[in-house]
Amino acid sequence: MAETVNVKNVGLRGVTVADTKVSFIDGEKGVLIYRGYRIEELAQSASFMEVAYLLLNGSLPLKKELTAFMTQVTAAREVPRHIYECFKKWPKDSNPMDVLQATVPMLAMVDPDLQDETRAANFRMATRLIGRLPVVVAGWHRIRNGLEPLSPDDSLPHAANFLWLLHGQKPDEEMAHDLDTCLILHADHTFNASTFACREVVSTRAHMYAGVTGGLGALSGSLHGGANAQVMKMLLSLESEKNIPGWVRNRLDGGERIMGMGHAVYKTMDPRARFLKDMAARLGKKTGRERWHELSSQIEKAGLEEFAKRGKADIQPNVDFYSAPVYHIMGIPGDLMTPIFAISRVAGWCSHIIEEKFAEAQEKPALYRPKAEYVGQYCGLMGCEYEALESRG
Ligand SMILES: CC(C)(COP(=O)(O)OP(=O)(O)OC[C@H]1O[C@@H](n2cnc3c(N)ncnc32)[C@H](O)[C@@H]1OP(=O)(O)O)[C@@H](O)C(=O)NCCC(=O)NCCS
Repeated sequence: MAETVNVKNVGLRGVTVADTKVSFIDGEKGVLIYRGYRIEELAQSASFMEVAYLLLNGSLPLKKELTAFMTQVTAAREVPRHIYECFKKWPKDSNPMDVLQATVPMLAMVDPDLQDETRAANFRMATRLIGRLPVVVAGWHRIRNGLEPLSPDDSLPHAANFLWLLHGQKPDEEMAHDLDTCLILHADHTFNASTFACREVVSTRAHMYAGVTGGLGALSGSLHGGANAQVMKMLLSLESEKNIPGWVRNRLDGGERIMGMGHAVYKTMDPRARFLKDMAARLGKKTGRERWHELSSQIEKAGLEEFAKRGKADIQPNVDFYSAPVYHIMGIPGDLMTPIFAISRVAGWCSHIIEEKFAEAQEKPALYRPKAEYVGQYCGLMGCEYEALESRG
């Protein structure tokens, strides 16, 4: 009989529910590792395609392996036209995360590998998802603005192609490289809410697209990936605010949260935020839009001071805090910031889905089924007496 652990842990903080070989976090020291490699090293030296390959395969690709992988992803970019025809009928003010979450099952319907439960088929589905999600996001953005979606440019790398599809202009090389780095930084993060959602869904033997759809739903929330859009709203609302420390104090006194600060695992500055902070400063200088880095830094400083006064010095900037100003400087609208998180995280989700389905880190696959303590109405094991509707009045 399975061992029962009778410890209630709301939110599962610190509870180990599975083994994984995909990534590792040391929350006290602020360290994030993908398949053995430090995030800083990957962000400085690798491309998102290399990192996606690494996450999916467990080792860095040889040149010819990377070329083959990129060819596969590039070949998968084109989105079936009927999906765009549907987009044209959808309300133009739909949230792009809802659009993305609604589109993934439509991509499942046209995937020739859907019924094939081999590892190779799941790998192919992963490459299609990685290739298509950015095209879907950009296609929706153009259609909601009354424009025709553009065709992917196969000569452009992953992030550059996304910027091209979004803006209809060949992107600045440095900016495209920076976006690629952002994708690396967001690609995986162990058992965060959305990854856990993906793994939980596929633990029922549902297919990869069902898992990714679950992950998208979890990512959209403002305590998770949705935080970057909230950070952007905060920055825009504070653009001409003179008293940032006062604003931060009032917000915390009112019991509200400073979006982009705090983390369930990191008790120090998120290593990704450190990277993005420098990027926001550099891009700001290059484009003459220094205000956004400046403003974010002021909120960070005031937040750190206020949290320390309140005995919560471990609440520090997370990945969403500085990704918002970076994306804003790149000309990306606020409501596309969480979808960009998704087009990166899909690499991690698919890696975890494969690991879960094929028990690559533990003995055999297991269906997730935690327990809840029942605290509702209880009349004993015979149940409460049912009173007919007519006599209830
Ligand atoms: C991410 C987050 C949910 C992690 O929280 P956590 O530390 O695991 O646990 P809790 O949500 O219970 O927070 C613990 C305490 O810190 C406070 N806190 C945490 N983050 C806070 C923030 N950004 N602003 C204000 N207070 C915060 C909570 O209000 C809570 O206070 P209490 O104990 O007095 O009730 C939380 O930091 C948060 O909401 N951050 C803002 C949203 C965000 O940026 N999310 C993206 C994460 S990558």
